[in-house]
Amino acid sequence: MKILVIGGGGREHALVWKLKQSARVEKIWCAPGNGGIAGEAECVPVDPGDVPALVALAERFAPDLTVVGPELPLVNGLTDAFARRRWPVVGPSQQAAQLEGSKIFSKEFLERHAIPTAKRYGCFDSAAQARAALANVAWPLVIKADGLCAGKGVLVAGDREEAADFLTRVMEKDELGPAGRRVLLEEGLAGDELSFIILTDGQRYAPLVPTRDHKRAFDGNRGPNTGGMGAYSTDDLLPEALRATIVSTIVDPTLRGLATDGIPYQGFLYIGLMLTPSGPKVLEFNCRLGDPETQAIVARMDFDLAEVLADVAAGRLDPAKLRWKPGASACVVLASGGYPGKYESGKRIDGLTTITDNSGVKVLHAGTKIVNDAIVTSGGRVLGVTASGPTLAAALQAAYQAAGKIRFEGMHYRKDIGAAAAPGGD
Ligand code: AMP
Ligand code: GLY
Repeated sequence: MKILVIGGGGREHALVWKLKQSARVEKIWCAPGNGGIAGEAECVPVDPGDVPALVALAERFAPDLTVVGPELPLVNGLTDAFARRRWPVVGPSQQAAQLEGSKIFSKEFLERHAIPTAKRYGCFDSAAQARAALANVAWPLVIKADGLCAGKGVLVAGDREEAADFLTRVMEKDELGPAGRRVLLEEGLAGDELSFIILTDGQRYAPLVPTRDHKRAFDGNRGPNTGGMGAYSTDDLLPEALRATIVSTIVDPTLRGLATDGIPYQGFLYIGLMLTPSGPKVLEFNCRLGDPETQAIVARMDFDLAEVLADVAAGRLDPAKLRWKPGASACVVLASGGYPGKYESGKRIDGLTTITDNSGVKVLHAGTKIVNDAIVTSGGRVLGVTASGPTLAAALQAAYQAAGKIRFEGMHYRKDIGAAAAPGGD
């Protein structure tokens, strides 16, 4: 098989790494890829949001399968363009990708199908009306910009002043562009979060192993929200009773709802959950795999990913093929100084060669590139040090030990990934 992977972050490095392990894969291209992916696939400098350019690329390469990592190509209609040409691709249609592309579409879908979610206070396209609505909400309040905002579109506001300031910035000063001109106000939920991701061919589905992301920048869940500072996976995250509840109250109604609404869904569906005292509730849908959840998920895969994804594209997913390593995995994200705010790029990364692939640790690259044969930083989240092990404590220990060998100017990372679930494990 020849495979085209779209995207250039840690998630895509994880996918490329795993796809390459398949005996049936002879060639992988990645658009645009990054400094780590370049060691395992042929990187081609094409913007993942540019559907016509990606169609032209696929025309030239004629891949047997295209796997889409990020949301932007999906929301821009990449899979529709491929499906029209009968090219095998994994990822939902533009219409289905609205589950992520519009928070209001997603909230209406959840309400229409009675799927547990945070109560909606209202949707607004006028900042004055949204500010007036602040008089009648409970705190904390959650404000969500409707469109895609690369992780910057959600505020959990503790008080009216903070909320009003955010509304002014996104709705009047256009800090998030057109994506912020409409907002959704909803109830703030409390609890532990869980990322529950399924893979579906539109008929059958298979759940991936459960993961937990760490969204805040600093230890103890302090600081601003980020794209994700680390993730772990263990089966303990999902006791059988909780799994049964999630399947019956959320997954089944979601798949039935999509069918009822006439929205075929093929690809990965990420269900972001809050485990509240009154049961699991949906925080968000993403039309793709999570990042850094994917790094932790791939580390536990014990099946041929290329075969399974080809099955999905052909509409013949066999859920029994998805087998998982017991135990646990963890991914610790090493970020640039200043991230998620302003940061500098172009810093040389040292220590990478001290970590060999057979150490059980894999350093997955996100914001890196190669300049004059050296690997330098080129993004906010730079590397995801990923390990698996018989226990979460063992996986965390291996990941942190390797992280300690890597250096670049300004590097910071959380020291407490998975710590709440594996006391003393890091
Ligand atoms: P989203 O992009 O919708 O997942 O939101 C990003 C993050 O904001 C989530 O992972 C949660 O940490 C937080 N969040 C979103 N919605 C809520 C909510 N209703 N209550 C509390 N936190 C939320
Ligand atoms: N890690 C959360 C996300 O990928 O949206």
